[in-house]
Amino acid sequence: MVARRMLGVGFIGSGFIARFHIRSWLGVRDADIRGIWSPNRKHSEEAASLARELRVGEARAFDSIEEMVAAPEIDCIWICGPNHMRLDNMERIVSTLRSGKGRLIGVTCEKPLARNVREAKRMVKLIEQAGVLHGYLEDQLFSPGVERGRNVVWARGASLTGRPYLARAAEEHSGPHMPWFWQGELQGGGVLNDMMCHSIEVGRYLLTQPGAPRNSIRPTKVSAQIACLKWARPDYARRLQESMGPEVDYLKAPSEDFARSTIHYVDEQKTPLIVETTTSWSYVGPGLRLSMELLGPEYSLAMNSLDSGLKLFFSRRVQGEAGEDLVEKQNAEQGMMPVVGSETVEYGYEAENRYFVQCFLDGKQPAENFYDGLEVTELLMTAYMSAEQERVIPFKPADLESYVPAVARGVWKP
Ligand SMILES: NC(=O)c1ccc[n+]([C@@H]2O[C@H](COP(=O)([O-])OP(=O)(O)OC[C@H]3O[C@@H](n4cnc5c(N)ncnc54)[C@H](O)[C@@H]3O)[C@@H](O)[C@H]2O)c1
Repeated sequence: MVARRMLGVGFIGSGFIARFHIRSWLGVRDADIRGIWSPNRKHSEEAASLARELRVGEARAFDSIEEMVAAPEIDCIWICGPNHMRLDNMERIVSTLRSGKGRLIGVTCEKPLARNVREAKRMVKLIEQAGVLHGYLEDQLFSPGVERGRNVVWARGASLTGRPYLARAAEEHSGPHMPWFWQGELQGGGVLNDMMCHSIEVGRYLLTQPGAPRNSIRPTKVSAQIACLKWARPDYARRLQESMGPEVDYLKAPSEDFARSTIHYVDEQKTPLIVETTTSWSYVGPGLRLSMELLGPEYSLAMNSLDSGLKLFFSRRVQGEAGEDLVEKQNAEQGMMPVVGSETVEYGYEAENRYFVQCFLDGKQPAENFYDGLEVTELLMTAYMSAEQERVIPFKPADLESYVPAVARGVWKP
């Protein structure tokens, strides 16, 4: 047990997801948010003041990652910067520690762990060199519905009638909020890299018996398809460029806005299992939609984040400003709208952060960590390979480490 009772957490990044995490901290015990660093000082100050207003920690803005890691009040770091800065962020954390400054217990990293397998392996190597505990921030595993549904299905249905064999997971919305997500080179791909990382991992998790290790089921082959269904249409490509800037040109360098994959697994008895995923940036509904299913011989589980218990109706005379106050990636402000009671709870952020804090306090390696992030990246890259080559790819292909998807090289033709 680590001697200190209250951990101090520092955030790298002050954008959308960092603020989501800060809001989730209302449900996190034994840790305070004490630091924020992002390149824009004003944004770091704003995020720090949000943490103070919510009373989730006496947070202050730092001038550099190095200064934050070295600060005596910081015990762990949450990496929430953009994908193309992952390695840079991690190199800075580790070089500070190696210079003898800072006493970190743990580091967590947002999804995806990296843009490709080579980078993900480097992330793993760096964390091993640092010798600190590590966590991979896949919030959907901690969603109360997923956690409770999985436990009940396995305890009742699977124990009496046999293990589940098919997991389906989908994540869809109408497109990301910042230009870098749309740029294959910066983000690492399109919607497959951005959102299928969630669906692959939650599907794998639902099919894994609670308490069993990750390798109790093993991926054997992957097939996938990608397409640009909406955003390469000339009028939508133009609209995208107007809202995101000249560097986002989907007539010249599109990324996929639709992706699906089928991943075959086997368990220890060689029983065939399947994870089926669908992700898109071309879904226009009320807002972000997460759905999962788990099917077994005599039972099934189903979840859909927009099947919320709360719905609001606004007549056509209610003409307010566009916002995201009802649901993440909201598309409308009128008519019948579902509202997710607490997104930070329902999507899993609160339980996720509580879990990683508890692990770090207990000096225990989290079950969801950088090695899981690496395997997710390997599966994502195999899915891109399959889509490019239009064939089923046995897992793991030999040339995975040097592989960079055509979308991430800016040469993909839909
Ligand atoms: N778990 C989820 O569901 C989920 C949802 C959204 C985003 N994410 C992930 O979180 C990360 C951040 O996404 P976001 O939506 O907050 O993006 P964002 O663009 O809103 O915010 C990115 C933040 O990083 C900062 N930044 C810029 N340069 C940086 C650098 N060199 N080093 C560190 N930070 C830098 C920016 O100032 C900004 O504060 C991404 O990796 C994304 O994939 C996860």
